[in-house]
Amino acid sequence: MMCCYMIIMCLCCHHGWQSDVLLQCFRYDIKLNNAILAEEKHLPMYDELASKGNVEYIAGGATQNSIRVAQWMLQIPGATSYMGCIGKDKFGEEMKKNAQAAGVNARYYEDEAAPTGTCAVCVVGGERSLVANLSAANCYKSEHLKRLENWALVEKAKYIYIAGFFLTVSPDSIQLVAEHAAANKKVFLMNLSAPFICEFFRDAQEKVLLYVDYIFGNETEARIFAKVRGWETENVEEIALKISQLPLASGKQKRIAVITQGADPVVVAEDGQVKTFPVILLPKEKLVDTNGAGDAFVGGFLSQLVQQKGIEDCVKAGCYAANVIIQRSGCTYPEKPDFN
Ligand SMILES: Nc1ncnc2c1ncn2[C@@H]1O[C@H](COP(=O)(O)OP(=O)(O)OP(=O)(O)O)[C@@H](O)[C@H]1O
Ligand SMILES: *[C@@H]1O[C@H](CO)[C@@H](O)[C@H](O)[C@H]1NC(C)=O
Ligand SMILES: *[C@@H]1O[C@H](CO)[C@@H](O)[C@H](O)[C@H]1NC(C)=O
Ligand SMILES: *[C@@H]1O[C@H](CO)[C@@H](O)[C@H](O)[C@H]1NC(C)=O
Repeated sequence: MMCCYMIIMCLCCHHGWQSDVLLQCFRYDIKLNNAILAEEKHLPMYDELASKGNVEYIAGGATQNSIRVAQWMLQIPGATSYMGCIGKDKFGEEMKKNAQAAGVNARYYEDEAAPTGTCAVCVVGGERSLVANLSAANCYKSEHLKRLENWALVEKAKYIYIAGFFLTVSPDSIQLVAEHAAANKKVFLMNLSAPFICEFFRDAQEKVLLYVDYIFGNETEARIFAKVRGWETENVEEIALKISQLPLASGKQKRIAVITQGADPVVVAEDGQVKTFPVILLPKEKLVDTNGAGDAFVGGFLSQLVQQKGIEDCVKAGCYAANVIIQRSGCTYPEKPDFN
């Protein structure tokens, strides 16, 4: 019925840290609830933590998580496809197996030299912090996208989702896909992805935003987005509205901004109006790990959007998927969804 095309850097493994290594997190200057790129000073961290033995390796990457969740919610074989870049190594093989097990049609660009990207995830008391070493995830090339068999997937897709993170990797790939979506009246969706994208990739982000029909983000990202533009408000509803009203490329009808706020209501701005939708509340003792909540939300949302459901159903499905994922470790789910 549809084919969702997704593209991003593929981070491969999540080192799940236990709270007894909390001290290490602080030593490496890592703030809870943040997402950063690995620097020289983080180098010893990986080995040090791996040597502790309590390390969990999970195939990840925000966008691959989102598409896996969308595929899971849909339960329609072959509904989704994904592209990204991995290395020719053990973690790369894991990525392939993981996508296959999830029923996602993955087409990876395999870099000859760089190892598969990794991301250290520090989980403490349900909060998480990310340190990403992109490696191969940073090596995606638009040549891969332009190969006949891969571009055929883009042509087949009706909904296309790309994470904002990918602006740091291959803006020309994004531009190609965005223009294709506009020219063929396809739905193009993006994510603000992280505060540093809004801050340091502002121009690239703004350029691609022209083509974006749906923009996702959380409250922190929305506020940073507003701050770098000097919008004098911290009100998420106002910001969502302003983002939805930023200029559009010719041929685009409107932009819908969807901003999540953890346990607080989801904000949706569309047609000059703002609506809020409550999330499914969860007693604190049931919260295992918020890692992947946002990714899962996007996956759930997509699963209904591609079935032409209204915004309310999309948000409900997003909240359902997020609610399932935060009760488990990492971005994992039971065999079948219980949503209708
Ligand atoms: N504490 C919570 N209780 C209930 N639902 C939650 C909670 N935290 C997250 N969620 C669900 O997950 C969705 C996304 O959460 P949030 O806004 O925290 O995204 P995020 O900050 O991008 O998450 P992450 O980056 O950790 O994946 C929310 O809209 C909500 O449905
Ligand atoms: C990132 O990973 C590569 C490959 O494993 C490694 O050579 C590099 O030192 C790492 N960088 C950081 C900052 O961790
Ligand atoms: C929103 O996501 C960013 C990572 O992109 C994170 O740093 C921030 O803490 C999140 N905000 C909240 C309120 O969870
Ligand atoms: C994408 O959007 C969701 C929903 O607004 C958000 O929670 C999440 O942090 C964003 N980032 C990624 C990488 O998916």
